[in-house]
Amino acid sequence: MSEPESLEALIARQGPIPVERFMGLANAAYYAQGAAIGREGDFITAPEISQVFGELIGAWLFAQWQVLGAPDPVRVVELGPGRGALIADLLRVAALRPAFAKAIDLHLVETSKALRARQKQALGGRPARWHDSFDEVPEGPLLLVANEFLDALPVRQWVRREDGWRERLVGVADGRLAFQESPDPDPGAPAILASAHQAAPLGVIVEHCPTAHALIAKIAQRIARAGGYALFIDYGPAASAPGDSLQAVRRHRPAPILERPGRADLTAHVDFQALAETAGLAGVAVFGPLGQGVWLERLGIVLRTQALIARAPPDTAHALARATQRLIAPTEMGTLFKTMALAPKTSPPPPGYEVS
Ligand SMILES: C[S@@+](CC[C@H](N)C(=O)[O-])C[C@H]1O[C@@H](n2cnc3c(N)ncnc32)[C@H](O)[C@@H]1O
Repeated sequence: MSEPESLEALIARQGPIPVERFMGLANAAYYAQGAAIGREGDFITAPEISQVFGELIGAWLFAQWQVLGAPDPVRVVELGPGRGALIADLLRVAALRPAFAKAIDLHLVETSKALRARQKQALGGRPARWHDSFDEVPEGPLLLVANEFLDALPVRQWVRREDGWRERLVGVADGRLAFQESPDPDPGAPAILASAHQAAPLGVIVEHCPTAHALIAKIAQRIARAGGYALFIDYGPAASAPGDSLQAVRRHRPAPILERPGRADLTAHVDFQALAETAGLAGVAVFGPLGQGVWLERLGIVLRTQALIARAPPDTAHALARATQRLIAPTEMGTLFKTMALAPKTSPPPPGYEVS
């Protein structure tokens, strides 16, 4: 079998490509290898830090299933389940409510074959269907969760210049990948960019994630049509802000973005404000974004951790306390990470969003 073409070779052959295409190709290659999620890997996510994270989300979904009138079946969907930690913890809680557990029709949206295999293992024989995209999830009431999924979707970038918005590209210079700008301004940019971006000073980079907007609109339309709730947890500011947030992480450290594409995890900040506007226009109520720490505290993370600690040996007790701290402390993941829920228009605020 011939080796897949490297990004350097593709760009040398085709010419510079938009940052969006670069990020999409690099991440597809990265996740195809199985993605090094976890302490031993490149980065760690909330469900990998503590089982309590997925357990609380399981309880949250159960509460929202009841608000929906306990539909059977209900499509329980996770976008980008990684190694399957969140879905396994969530289902363990769901199993305590037999009617809910029976109603769950499980759908996992995952493009990486290697990660699908890990997820299957984590499910331990529980039936599920895998899809390449949300479009393939059958119609019907929906309970959807996505943790650190939106930040992996490819962003477009533009730089503000005297004569307009130049799209940021990745080309080859001196035999190495290098950022470049489109030779002409992009006349389509002003219509796409968030209003906070329009006023960016000259030279500043702004971002927009077309895939995330298209996905959020589809999920919102589904909820408006068939009922349901969607919960997004990710990192980014609460309000749209100009700036270059593209970053690469390898072995828990920032890595050069253009060096060894496909060998590091590429992410960009999620623009919650812009996505909330898109969801609202598509016909749903939006709750949040709210800091992950405050949200988890309102859901009872401290009590649940104390209950686990009371039954744990000292080493485990210390690790449990430390993990909760990591999820909720403002200096760690508590503030940078946000949660945002989409709900039917007439829905009361879901748990955690009562006082925003
Ligand atoms: C950062 S990981 C998050 C893993 C998991 N949610 C967690 O919290 O541990 C991103 C996940 O999304 C998947 N993914 C990335 N881009 C995707 C896409 N366009 N369509 C479907 N899955 C995608 C990856 O393969 C991976 O499972």
